[in-house]
Amino acid sequence: MKLIAVKDYKQLSEKAAKLIIQKVNEKPDAVLGLATGGTVVGIYEELIRDHKENATSYKHTRSVNLDEYIGLAPYHEQSYFSYMNELFFKEIDIQAQHTHLPNGQAHNVTEECERYEQLIKALGGIDLQLLGIGENGHIGFNEPGTSFHSLTHVVKLAQSTREANARFFSSIDSVPTHAITMGIATIMSSREIMLVVSGEKKAEILCELFTHGKTESIPATVLKDHLNVTVIADEQALSVL
Ligand code: GLP
Repeated sequence: MKLIAVKDYKQLSEKAAKLIIQKVNEKPDAVLGLATGGTVVGIYEELIRDHKENATSYKHTRSVNLDEYIGLAPYHEQSYFSYMNELFFKEIDIQAQHTHLPNGQAHNVTEECERYEQLIKALGGIDLQLLGIGENGHIGFNEPGTSFHSLTHVVKLAQSTREANARFFSSIDSVPTHAITMGIATIMSSREIMLVVSGEKKAEILCELFTHGKTESIPATVLKDHLNVTVIADEQALSVL
């Protein structure tokens, strides 16, 4: 894993956005694996700013998101579908039919997982996957203990993950209990991966990621096996390492 250390959240967002823009310029029809959560918001802001100022175009770009809650209506403001549309897609020129998220309202969620896995294959695989990390080491919604061989699947969210994400909801009880997530093997099949880590709350897990061997109890450690991973971390996130 290649580590890029930056000063703060602003620099992290700028650096990550720069690498994404580079990929889209090199390959306009790239398949971008996108993430949600707090850390990546600044990256989307940078990409939007660049789209407006420098006219980087996403007209041919395709996107697949890592995960989606089960049971929230698509237009629920905390669904990842709404998050992506509000914070990114509606501000750039990506075509709606080129953007994909798991359908958390599917009647048969197992079939939906299979459909999503096939869709990623049909798109030709992911060129660049953007990842955040949970305080417990989760990637996507792959909680500790998830098999490194897992494909897109349904997960029961760890209580700590629901608590961490409760800040976006009116109360912990409104945070969904389950989600659909790309599996660890799905993520690992991406040609390139960029993990962004910011803030003190992530300092312990980032230290564990670099010092621990590969273990399914820390999902992100699987990334050690991937040949093209860049970790971008700010000073606060690197404070324990
Ligand atoms: C969430 C998402 C992940 C995200 C992670 C960290 O639960 N499912 O994809 O990377 O947790 O989120 P944040 O950046 O808000 O700390």
